[in-house]
Amino acid sequence: MSKKIIIGITGSIAAFKSVQLISDLIKQDYQIEVMMSESATQFITPTCIQSLTKRKVYVDTFDDENPAIITHVDIVKDADLFLVVPASAHTIAKLAHGMADNMLTSAFLAATCPKMIAPAMNVHMYENPITQKNMQILKELGILFVEPISGLLACGDIGQGKLADEQDIIEMIDYALTYKPLQGKRVLVSAGPTQENIDPVRYITNHSSGKMGYALAKAAFCLGAEVTLISGPTHLKKPFGVEKKDVISAQQMYEAVTSIAKQQDYIIMSAAVGDYACQQIADEKIKKSDDQLTLQLHKNKDILFELGQMKQPHQILCGFAMETSDLVYHAKDKLIRKNCDMIVANHLKTAGAGFQGDTNVVTIMTQDDMKDFGLMSKDELAYVIFDMLLKMEEERC
Ligand code: CTP
Repeated sequence: MSKKIIIGITGSIAAFKSVQLISDLIKQDYQIEVMMSESATQFITPTCIQSLTKRKVYVDTFDDENPAIITHVDIVKDADLFLVVPASAHTIAKLAHGMADNMLTSAFLAATCPKMIAPAMNVHMYENPITQKNMQILKELGILFVEPISGLLACGDIGQGKLADEQDIIEMIDYALTYKPLQGKRVLVSAGPTQENIDPVRYITNHSSGKMGYALAKAAFCLGAEVTLISGPTHLKKPFGVEKKDVISAQQMYEAVTSIAKQQDYIIMSAAVGDYACQQIADEKIKKSDDQLTLQLHKNKDILFELGQMKQPHQILCGFAMETSDLVYHAKDKLIRKNCDMIVANHLKTAGAGFQGDTNVVTIMTQDDMKDFGLMSKDELAYVIFDMLLKMEEERC
C-alpha cells in the first residue's frame, strides 16, 4: 500500500519548489495530502497543487468538506509522515509553541506520525537566535530537519536560508519512513573506481560508476546507521546524511579504509579497486615515440584481503566479485581467501548487470549458503544485502 504524506506549505518564496516535489512524490506512488497557510497562497495557488494531487487543498481550519469529519484530526490519523516544506520562520515559531491557528498548524499538532521540517527564509531570520531556539525545541521533540543551504537568496542577501535540494528532501523522506535496525551501528562502504596515474595527463581506471556503493551508503543511512562512504572519482551526488571521503588511487583507498576499519560494525567493499599501479609516474607528459609503449606496473594492496586479516570478532565483512566466467567458483574462492562473511557476485555478462546501469543481477554467497537474485534496481539490491547481513548478525547472537 502506498505511504501517505501530509505536506504543509507555508509563506516563503520557495513555496514554488514544493510543486515539483509534490509532482515527483506522486510519481513515486506516495499518497499526498496538502495544506497551505494563508500566506503560502500569496506565492502559489491551491488550484495548482490540487491539479497535481487531485485532492482538496486545505487552508482554513474550518475548510471541512464533510461536517461529520473534523479534518485536521481525521486526515493525519493514517499519515506516515507530516512534512512542512518550505517552513517559514513564523510557522516554525508556531509549531514550536503548539499554536494551532490554521489547518496546517492544527493538523501538525494532532499528528502522531513522524514529522519533518524543511525551512526556507532570509539568512538573518534563519540565524536569529529566536528561530534557532524554536528549531531546537522541535529537534529535541524528535522532529527531523532538512537544513537550508547557503546561496544567493531571493531578497538579495547571501547566506544560509535556501530550501534544501529536492534530492536531499526526498532522501530524508526515505530516512523518515524506513525502520531502523542499524541504529547505533557504524557502516563503512567503499565505492567507485580507483585511478592510477601514468603521467600528468593520463591514468588507468575501470568502468565502475559507483552506483552500487552509493545505493548501499544511502540504504545504510536510512536503516539508521552512522555511515562513512569512501569513494573513488564518480559523478554521483553525496547521499544525504552520509560522511564522504574522496580518494583517487588504490593506495589512498587502502589508507582511508584501514584507518577507520576497526571502529566499524559492517564493512562493504563495493569499490572496483585497481589491481595494479604504475611503478613510476612520469613527471612530464609521455611523448609518443615507438610503436609500442610498455608500462611497468606493480600490484596494489588487496584491501579486502587486509580487512579480512584484521577482522574483529563483532565485524561483518562483505566483498563484491565482478566475474565474466566461472562466477560461483571465483566468488567462493574470494569469500574464503579474503575471509569475508558475504560476497555479492555480479553477473557481468548478463543483461542489466554490472557497472554503469541502475540495475544489477547477482548471486549472494555466504560461508554456508548461496542465493541467486534476478534483475533488480541497485537501490532495491542495497536493502536485500542489508537484510541478509542483519540476518547473519542475528544468527550469530
Ligand atoms: N578488492 C580490494 N582491493 C583490491 C582489489 C579488489 O579490496 N586491490 C576488493 C573489491 O572491492 C571487491 C573484491 O575485492 O570487494 C573482489 O574484487 P575483484 O576485482 O572481483 O577481484 P580481485 O580480488 O581483484 O581478483 P581478480 O581480479 O583476480 O578477479
